[in-house]
Amino acid sequence: MVKKVLLAIVCFGTLFSKSNIYERNCVKCHSHQVVSLDKLFYRYLLKYSSERAVKKSLYDYLKHPSYFKTIMPSGYINRYGIKLPSKLSDNDLKRAINIYWDKYKVFGKLKLKRED
Ligand code: HEC
Repeated sequence: MVKKVLLAIVCFGTLFSKSNIYERNCVKCHSHQVVSLDKLFYRYLLKYSSERAVKKSLYDYLKHPSYFKTIMPSGYINRYGIKLPSKLSDNDLKRAINIYWDKYKVFGKLKLKRED
């Protein structure tokens, strides 16, 4: 009995850890893309530096992707094109960006290895 309960807890744990809006939307699609989400994040961080500027520019881009705003190399865009605007609601998009930020931000956690 105890074993079954423990098993159930472990299963639910894995289920929930994968089911946030960032995993369901961003990661799901990006796992098929050539450039990984962590590389994209660091490009945004290099270009925009502060938390507020990174989050704002991500939000703007994901709402209205455009050739003029992309940080992707033109070779990539010429080949694969610009992504479609996000279908998420404003709130879900903000939540996904917050999770994305928390996952990859480097301030305050200077450990070099990520756990995933
Ligand atoms: C349906 C597929 C799909 C979904 C869903 C998706 N992306 Fe993307 N994303 C792409 C593709 C394709 C590109 C490359 C083309 C481009 O940059 O416009 C891209 C580009 C990006 C870039 C680089 C933007 C730039 O400046 O060009 C970032 C950052 C990014 N995605 C983050 C996210 C985040 C965060 C989410 C979740 C809120 C998300 N993506 C959801 C397919 C997707």
